[in-house]
This record gives sequence, structure tokens and C-alpha cells, in this order.
Amino acid sequence: MKYSLKRRFSGVRLWRKNKSVLYNLHPPTIPADGARFTYTFGLGGLTLLATLITILTGVLLTFYFVPTTERAYPSLTLINSVVNFGGFVRSLHYWAAQLTVIFAALHLARIVFTGAYRPPRDFNWALGLGLFVLLLLWDFTGYTLRWDEGSIWALLVGTNLLKVIPRYGDALYRLVVGDTAPGDAALLRFYAWHVVGLTVATVGGIGYHLWRVRVDGGISHPHPTRARPKTLVSRDALFSTEIIAAIIATAAMMALAAIAPPALGRIADLSATGITETKAPWIFLAIQELLRYLPPLWAGWIVPSAGMVILLSLPLFDRHGAGRGKYFSRARWQSQAAFAALAAGIIFLSVMAALR
Ligand code: HEM
Repeated sequence: MKYSLKRRFSGVRLWRKNKSVLYNLHPPTIPADGARFTYTFGLGGLTLLATLITILTGVLLTFYFVPTTERAYPSLTLINSVVNFGGFVRSLHYWAAQLTVIFAALHLARIVFTGAYRPPRDFNWALGLGLFVLLLLWDFTGYTLRWDEGSIWALLVGTNLLKVIPRYGDALYRLVVGDTAPGDAALLRFYAWHVVGLTVATVGGIGYHLWRVRVDGGISHPHPTRARPKTLVSRDALFSTEIIAAIIATAAMMALAAIAPPALGRIADLSATGITETKAPWIFLAIQELLRYLPPLWAGWIVPSAGMVILLSLPLFDRHGAGRGKYFSRARWQSQAAFAALAAGIIFLSVMAALR
């Protein structure tokens, strides 16, 4: 047969639904209970969308951002005030990044309250927790790049927490900060981690996470019963809903970015006193508050690690199948209570720190 360019490309149009990655993430049919909006609230998908927008806008920012202590801050003011749509792109990057963390936290809560962390999804639960830590580090390194007064806590207190690790603390500090105090070496390292290391790890982790959702049998759902037999929906219907939801969510994020651009404080002066008065980035407010009551090793490492161990071990203590795929099942009250107590503690400490 004669080779025809027209015929060759007619079959690979980018927007052909059945060729799209998103469409093929789903199996051809999905149990209706797992596909219900009021079951997942689309939170996994929203996390994915916010991550993609963060990456896209981050790539655009790299054309103007200069990662040196002298030029980082001025390059951001240039992006804000001179570059066409620069302020908007920066604001969208900031909001998409914050929403990534918020959506991921809500997604995590949904997994706990529907018991979706149990086998066979226990591995994906652990992977998800790892992803959450990566998202926090991604956000943390982003804050340091601003090199304004808002970065001071992250740059000084955040990095000093490394020094309190017994035995290896000083070596770890030198490895991360690249010097005896935060300066050009630290900024360059944070930049490299932010745009390459953490981005590659997060994207790879998300790909693996989504693949595991399929391998583990799709989204969890209740056992079919005689009274409630299994019903299936086709992925075509779900795909169309997801595209419409993604368009609406993107428009909402763009509106937020236009209305509330992130403030840029004065340029950071790391030699100035009064570091204790600077606020931590909102994701670390709970640790900042804990540091008032506990020694740094406990506030920065032991208490957060204990929280992580509790979350990681939920599938070990809760292996029975009762209440599968149902919100707030009494059969799992212990793990739900442990999670609620943990979340309430973090929110309480963060509010206390924010109000100071
Ligand atoms: C970058 C972050 C993440 C992305 C993009 C993401 C994406 C997704 C998506 C699209 C799904 C299927 C639909 C849904 O349940 O909403 C899903 C399911 C799942 N996710 Fe995530 N997720 C992320 C982080 C997390 C975190 C932090 C956890 C928990 C620690 C987690 C644990 C799970 C589990 C266990 C499932 C299976 C749920 C079920 O079968 O009901 N994920 N994720």
C-alpha cells in the first residue's frame, strides 16, 4: 500500500478520545459505586490537575528566575511587573502548588474515611504517603527560592532542624545547604531540587501511583449484595465528566490567581535579628508552634515521624473487610479516630501559630 502522510496522521489526532492518556487510565467499565462523585469527590484527579498546572507554570517561570542570592528576588519583581502575564503566571504557580497540597491532604482523608488503605491497596497507601512528603518538600523548596522575608523561617529554622539530628546532623546540613550558612550554594541546591529532583520524583511517583490504582482492581467500592447488585458505568461517561470538571477547576484556579496574587515581602536579610518573629510557610506552621514547647529534635523529627508511622501502620491494624467502600464505617472507628485526632492536632497547632 502506498504510504500516505494524510492517512498516517488521521489516526493519531491528539484529541482523539480513545488515544488519550486520561481516557486509558480507566478500564472500559467501572463499578458505579467507585465512580460516584460523592465517593471520591474527584480529589485524586484534582491533585493531578493542580500538579500539572504547577509544573507547566513553573517551566515558564524558569525563563526569567535567576537562582542567586543577589538576583533571585529582583528577578521575581521583574516577573511581577515587567514580563507579560508574568505576575499572573507566578500567581497561578503559587496557587496551584498550594492547592496540590490541600487536594492531596483531602484525598488522603477520603482514603482513610472510606477504608481504601486496606489490602490490596496498602502498598498504594504507603506510596501515597511518600508522595505527600515529596509535595511538602516541593512546596518548602519553592518558598526558599523567593529569598524574601517570608523565606527566612524556611531558610534558617527549617534548615537548622537538620543540625539537631544526632551524629549525622552537621554532615546532612552541609550536604543540603552546601555551606556553613544559607547563601548562593543553598539557593542553587534548593533550585535544582525544586525544578529537577523533586519534580522528577513526584511525576514518577504519580505515574506509579495511578498504575497501582488499576493493578489493585480500580477504585475501591462496596461488595455487591443481593439488595445492591453491582452496576457498571462506561469510561466514556466518566471521561466526559472529568474533562468538564478539569476545565471548570482550571478556570477557578485562574480566577483565584488573578484575584489574589501572592505577596512578595522585602528582600531577605539573614543577618537581621528577630528571626523568631517570622512566620513559617503555612505547611510548617504546626512545627513552628511545636518548637515553642518541645526541643527541636522532638518538634522537627520525632513527633512528625511518629505521626507518619501511625498513618503507615493503619493497614496493619485494620485488615478486615467490613464496611468496605463506605464512608465512616463503624467497623473502622479506631483508625478513623486516630486520623481525626492527628488532623485536629495539626490544624490546632497551625491556627495557634498563625494567630500569634
Ligand atoms: C500527587 C499526589 C496524588 C495524586 C495525583 C493522586 C491521584 C490519585 C487518583 C487519580 C486516584 C483514583 C481516583 C481517586 O481515588 O480520587 C487515587 C487513588 C488512590 N490514592 Fe492517590 N493521589 C495522590 C496522593 C495520594 C496520597 C497522599 C495518598 C494517601 C496517603 C493516596 C492514596 C491513594 C489510594 C489508597 C488510592 C486508591 C483509592 C481507592 O481505591 O478508593 N494518594 N489517587
